[in-house]
Amino acid sequence: MAVRKATIDTLLQEDRIFHPDTEFNRQANVKHREIYAEARSNSRIFWAMQAERLEWFQKWDQVVDWQPPFVKWFVNGKLNACYNCVDRHLKTWRKNKAAIIFEGEPGDTRVLTYWDLWREVTKFANVLRDLGVQKGDRVAIYMPMIPEAAIAMLACARLGAAHSVVFGGFSPDSLRDRINDAGAKLVITTDGSWRRGKIVPLKKNTDLAVAECPTIEKMLVVRRTGQEVSMQEGRDFWYHELEVGAQVGGPCEEMDSEDMLFILYTSGTTGKPKGVVHTTGGYLTGVATTHHMIFDLKDSDVFWCTADVGWITGHSYVVYGPLANGATTLMFEGAPDWPEQDRFWAIVERYGVNILYTAPTAIRAFMKWGEQWPARRDLSSLRLLGSVGEPINPEAWMWYHKHIGGQRCPIVDTWWQTETGMILISALPGITPLKPGSATVPVPGVEADVVDKNGNPVLLGKGGFLVLKEPWPAMMRTIYGDDQRYIDTYWNKIPGKWLYFAGDGARRDYHNYYWILGRVDDVINVAGHRLSTMEVESAFVDHPSVAEAAAIGKDHAIKGQAISVFITLKSSISKEMDSGAKTRKEMQDELKAHVVRKIGAIARPDDVFFTAELPKTRSGKIMRRLLRDIAEGRALGDTTTLADPAVIAELKNRYEAKES
Ligand code: WT7
Repeated sequence: MAVRKATIDTLLQEDRIFHPDTEFNRQANVKHREIYAEARSNSRIFWAMQAERLEWFQKWDQVVDWQPPFVKWFVNGKLNACYNCVDRHLKTWRKNKAAIIFEGEPGDTRVLTYWDLWREVTKFANVLRDLGVQKGDRVAIYMPMIPEAAIAMLACARLGAAHSVVFGGFSPDSLRDRINDAGAKLVITTDGSWRRGKIVPLKKNTDLAVAECPTIEKMLVVRRTGQEVSMQEGRDFWYHELEVGAQVGGPCEEMDSEDMLFILYTSGTTGKPKGVVHTTGGYLTGVATTHHMIFDLKDSDVFWCTADVGWITGHSYVVYGPLANGATTLMFEGAPDWPEQDRFWAIVERYGVNILYTAPTAIRAFMKWGEQWPARRDLSSLRLLGSVGEPINPEAWMWYHKHIGGQRCPIVDTWWQTETGMILISALPGITPLKPGSATVPVPGVEADVVDKNGNPVLLGKGGFLVLKEPWPAMMRTIYGDDQRYIDTYWNKIPGKWLYFAGDGARRDYHNYYWILGRVDDVINVAGHRLSTMEVESAFVDHPSVAEAAAIGKDHAIKGQAISVFITLKSSISKEMDSGAKTRKEMQDELKAHVVRKIGAIARPDDVFFTAELPKTRSGKIMRRLLRDIAEGRALGDTTTLADPAVIAELKNRYEAKES
């Protein structure tokens, strides 16, 4: 993507502010604002102090070795990630503390203490070793959200093999490409996974993938759904059979701080997936530190991050961050609307969840379904909420605050990426005043900026490109097998300076708060004004009838681009319209007028199109590129990362028939 015009125009004004209450501050892990100045005055000392959270087999002899754009953290330090997440807790009172609380989609539950987890992980590691897995190998993991997924990751880490987790919703072809790119020698899967009461045939998918994977020698299959599957003699093994004879216990490999811990593929919204490489010491330091500071983790908390382990959020804040901190982490296998639209709230009530970390796409779905669902559950255990994955529209923030947080829970809006490994921009809940829709400020020890295409900082209030100016411990090290692509994608877009370019637009307000404006590829250019999708969409979501909005720029002879908006209405409003209480035209006019009032005539859309669903990636990001294809009457581009291809097909038909 080329960075063309220098800056992005910004129009949305959000003035609400929520100060941390004194009681929260008094008990917070970070109580004093001095932490920012301390970290800034010497970030190396700051990160070295944070690395002391971990247990090292051998101390590092240099904190950071920065040879842009390549970095090494905690040089010559030796440690093992599994040891830090499991074994070391057995020496403390946490031995009998719940490490993982699990609820399966059918409602089955399991609790594993740290002791249980150690037994399971060591057994799993010994089975993998017997199947030939060694330090330096790559292992693919294609599993549902069950404890064995975390156990498999930790078992790989224990042996020093890098894992590559492939989200269980991906197709056989996607799995095949990722296995081949990583050169994995073994793949771990299950017979199937549950999805809204039906079985997704993971073993069958894996068979299809592996038929075209020359590096795969063995397949390890964990039983989950229990249906018949075919096993290939000599290649495929049931875990429950091998587990019987497996030893419990055994050592952890001593890993260098810079040894690869995992590869995780990210496709974003375009292009061939990139194998993002994360290493051991810096990654674990970064995720443990941010998990502790941002989520204000206490030993008594039940921490629930709703992301799948197939995404970076699941790696960093379901598995590695929480377990490194000796936390209780909750894993849920199912969907938020199965069997009913209150499943999340039933789980919060049942386990007394204290900290909930989820995505704006989920929050907007909850808004659409209505507040009666959370209202009938006891959510009083919650004390802190988090958001990640996309900009959270101010109205969605307010809804989350009111209907889930009972107006008492701070919300941390956390900006980061698969590539950054850890959260980089977020409030610290005890000290940072919150503004709905802003991720607030960079975390201590992180140096960000908003710059123009030449890398010069833009004025406060102006939009530009979000960059990182200094290395941070959990940053990606490269793209697996492709250093050049790493350099071109993240470091060469803004020439002449070593700035990490995140691909997002942002602006800073007069308090130096960051407002993420969305991917720069998605920016809309109306008559020379560069508008962010996030701002236009937020103005729509601000209207009480709207649940979700996707704004795109559509080619226009005079203005360059005109705005088209795809809208999902709240369930109750759709019903009203179906009954004829209001026509589509009336609703469209009302929404256009609302947006003009909110951000001005420049943002008046040419068309407003109603749709029950928007096309999204499997991680919930709206694929605006495909909406542009529809609006401009082109054939659809690459649709392989779509969660549900039916949504876009239907939308295209209806759009072409002008059925809105
Ligand atoms: C992209 C990274 C790492 C978290 C899961 C997504 C967008 C993420 C926020 C936020 C605004 C956000 C950015 C980023 N994003 N969090 N709090 N506010 N935008 O990981 O799939 O690697 O996507 O998600 O555009 O670049 P990912």
